[in-house]
Amino acid sequence: MTKHILTVDQFDVGEVERLFQMSDEINQKIDQKREKELLRTLPGNILFSFFCEESTRTRFSFETAGMLLGMHVIGTENAKKFSSMVKGESLRHSIRTMCELRANAIVLRHSTEGSAKEAAEIADPYGVSILNAGDGKGEHPSQALLDIYTIRNSFDKLENLAVACGGDLANGRTVRSLVRMLSSYDDISFRFFSPRELQMKQDVLDHLEKHGKRWRVCKTMEEALKGADVIYWTRSQLERFTSWQKIGRYFRALFAGNGKYIIGKHEMETWVKPDAILMHPLPIKDEIEAGVDNDSRSKYFEQVKNGLLVRMALLKYCLQ
Ligand code: NCD
Repeated sequence: MTKHILTVDQFDVGEVERLFQMSDEINQKIDQKREKELLRTLPGNILFSFFCEESTRTRFSFETAGMLLGMHVIGTENAKKFSSMVKGESLRHSIRTMCELRANAIVLRHSTEGSAKEAAEIADPYGVSILNAGDGKGEHPSQALLDIYTIRNSFDKLENLAVACGGDLANGRTVRSLVRMLSSYDDISFRFFSPRELQMKQDVLDHLEKHGKRWRVCKTMEEALKGADVIYWTRSQLERFTSWQKIGRYFRALFAGNGKYIIGKHEMETWVKPDAILMHPLPIKDEIEAGVDNDSRSKYFEQVKNGLLVRMALLKYCLQ
């Protein structure tokens, strides 16, 4: 059976922990010259990385993951411009082409929700794995896994945590995937803090209700941050807004005036617990001040580091 990574809903807690144990093992080897060689367990396998939307971390980290596993990696930096997409080719034909070229796995980022699932329907009969690297406003499962891996390593547990999510919760696929996936763990509660127009969408809230999770919408930064164990902040996803007028309105709602949604040194000192962690999927625009980067509670570059381990584990999970 061909394995794909399409949505966080496909994993149960046990499977996630097995992936994390694989990531731990990779972590022990990755910085040692001799041990690193032992990681090359997928030699000769071909990985296509097909990115139809901008990316720095996800693309580099999947491509590095493939290389460290000994795979051949072929990528387009901007498929929207440098592939036949520009000539109007359908996603289905692009995917089929990569399958015919003997791909073993395809990492796909696309602006349309559901595109990874559509690609998997094409690739499945070929035995080619699709890894969803972000499908529009939909999901970003590898990011949710690396985020949860970071939380697990920071607290040594994944239960009994208060999670505050802020920024653009309506359009941010990372935070949507994270909240969905965390709802499988016991005694996790959520606080959401965003402009009214950018609130967490109903499908995620329904998912929380279904899993009996507590959540509330906060009116102030103080209410969101005080007492939270995990703070997960996001940028406004301007590229998803449909008109410039809206962009202006939302942007002002997020950042103008008193900087209602910006976390700076003052917020860290006043409201964030000493043992809390501050996470962000990156890129950060204005929503976290640069002065916070070196606060020991800021984990966003640790998330990047963990992303490589988790994505190596995901490629192994799909292909071995
Ligand atoms: C995110 C994405 O593309 O969804 N970036 C990432 O993959 N780490 C978040 C974002 O762009 O805001």
